[in-house]
This record gives sequence, C-alpha cells and structure tokens, in this order.
Amino acid sequence: MKIVIAGGTGFIGRALASASAAAGDEVVVLSRRPSLGAPKTVVWDGASTGSWQQALEGADAVVNLSGESVAEARWNEPRKKLLISSRLNATRALVAALSAAKQRPKVFLSSSAVGYYGDRGDELLDESSKPGSDFLSKLCQDWEKEARVAEPLGVRTVVLRTGIVLAQGGGALSKMLPIFKTGFGGPLGNGGQWMSWIALEDLVGLIRHAVVREVSGPLNGTAPNPAVNKDFSRALGRALGRPALLPAPAFALRLALGEMAGMLLGGQRALPKRLLETGYSFKRPDLESALRSIIG
Ligand SMILES: NC(=O)c1ccc[n+]([C@@H]2O[C@H](COP(=O)([O-])OP(=O)(O)OC[C@H]3O[C@@H](n4cnc5c(N)ncnc54)[C@H](OP(=O)(O)O)[C@@H]3O)[C@@H](O)[C@H]2O)c1
Repeated sequence: MKIVIAGGTGFIGRALASASAAAGDEVVVLSRRPSLGAPKTVVWDGASTGSWQQALEGADAVVNLSGESVAEARWNEPRKKLLISSRLNATRALVAALSAAKQRPKVFLSSSAVGYYGDRGDELLDESSKPGSDFLSKLCQDWEKEARVAEPLGVRTVVLRTGIVLAQGGGALSKMLPIFKTGFGGPLGNGGQWMSWIALEDLVGLIRHAVVREVSGPLNGTAPNPAVNKDFSRALGRALGRPALLPAPAFALRLALGEMAGMLLGGQRALPKRLLETGYSFKRPDLESALRSIIG
C-alpha cells in the first residue's frame, strides 16, 4: 500500500509513518521542511498546489495531520488565524491535489478533533451528536467541511475526531509529566470535566484500520473509556508513584492561558461507536493500563 502523510513529521505522523513502514507500506511524508532521512519526504508549503501533487498519484491513502499546535501559545487573534489557516489551507490544497490526480487515491483520512462537540458536560457523544459553538468547535466544523469536499470526487473520506493522544515524547503527556513527576500535579478546576483520551498506538492502529475498511464520514478516535479529569490525574499519579492532589484552580488557568483554558476546563465524553461497529479492537481500552504501559 502507498500512504501519503501530510504532517507526517509530527507527534502522530511519525508514529503512523514508522508503523506503516514496518508493515511494508510505501510511505511518503509531505512536509514544509526538507529531510535527509527516511521516510521519503516531499516538500510542500502546506497551503497551495504545486509539483508535490505528483506524490499523490496512485496512492492508496492520503492522511492529513497538518496544523499548528493548539496548545503551544495563547489564543490571541493572530494565533487563532494561524490555527485556522494552517488547517483549512492544507486541507484545501490536498483536496485540490486529489481532484487533479490522474490516478486518484482511494481514501482521504483527515484529522479533526473531539473539540468538534464543544464542552458537553456528562453527555455521551457519538458521531451523530451535534457540534458545539466555541472557537475549537467551529474550527473543527470548518476543517471537516473542507475535507469532505473530497467526497463528491469519489474518494472515500474519513474525518477523524481525535481525542487527547497519549504517548511519551509529545502531546498532552509531554506537558503533564514534568509537573506530575514533581508531585505537584492534580485536577484542573473542579476535575469533573471529561477527557476523551486515546493511546497513540491505538490511534495509529485505528487510522490503519479506517484506511483498509470501507468506513467513511466522521469517526471518533477515542478510547471506549473516557475519564473525568480528577480520575485521569489520580491514574497518572498512581502510574508515576506520586501524589496528584494539588488542584489547579480554574481562575488561575484562565488568567494564565486566557481562552485556551476553556479547552482544559471543559471536555467531551466521546465514545468510539463507529469504530467498534467496524470491528476495531483496542489494544489499550483502559486508562490505568494505558498510562502504565506508556510510562513503563
Ligand atoms: N496530539 C493530539 O492529542 C491531537 C488531538 C486532537 C487532534 N489532533 C490533530 O492531529 C493533527 C496532528 O497532531 P500532532 O499532535 O501530530 O501535531 P504536531 O506534532 O504539531 O504535528 C503537526 C504537523 O503539522 C505540520 N504543520 C504545522 N504547522 C503547519 C502549517 N502552518 N501549515 C502546514 N502544516 C503545518 C507540521 O509538519 P511540517 O513542519 O513538517 O510541515 C507538523 O509536523 C493536528 O492537526 C492536530 O490538531 C491532535
């Protein structure tokens, strides 16, 4: 199988590229930066069409993981514009390339996030649940809409509503581990907000599952057992053998992070209904064992 990964240099993309290469696939990474190492890298600007489009010819799958990190900087207006443009422009360019391809790829899997649903309290959410109305939710809705322009081209299209991805070396845990290791970790706000998490090894597994199965449309990329934030903090503390009792008050988070604090103080209780229906078997369905295996 030939798989093209836009954003394949990132936290999720690197894991997907190496699992795909290990499975014997031909892997091509689209990156804004040239690379000397494997896998094969084709340079694009993440925003416009160009000679890079050749890389999509005859591919079996195109996976879109591009986008500026939502957790790296305060969401002021320029940052918000960048979060939006880095996702919409990259997705638009990929769909234009799919459209122009002489040998169209069979499947386009484009990332979205559980932020699509907004802050929903204890409500159980599956792929048919309605979207939210905050900044991240609107961003995800626009992002999915751009990706689904590929549907009428006859390219099977999946939008992956990814949860909080857990692994060493990146994502949420790379921010949490240094604090929790010192014993100063704890719940955020009242700790009652739901966290729809997923182990990176399962996210990679389900992307590969979605590529080969006849699945299309939205897919929740989350483990079947979401946890409230205070239980997540306790489980992380136990995995590290450290107390995790010190709460971070909501007002302090709002002061420090501004609007971005809403992402930590609110949450989603999303379930991977369609993934389970299509027969995906989770390697790490439970938080406690997932954290223990990640932390080792
Ligand atoms: N990690 C999570 O927990 C999580 C949760 C939900 C959704 N997601 C989504 O999943 C996708 C991948 O996540 P990740 O954690 O692997 O992110 P990441 O490590 O930040 O990687 C994202 C990749 O996107 C590319 N990129 C960055 N800015 C860009 C821009 N302005 N224009 C075009 N491409 C740009 C970069 O590739 P180059 O520099 O090589 O071009 C980078 O390697 C993201 O869209 C993210 O929003 C992640």
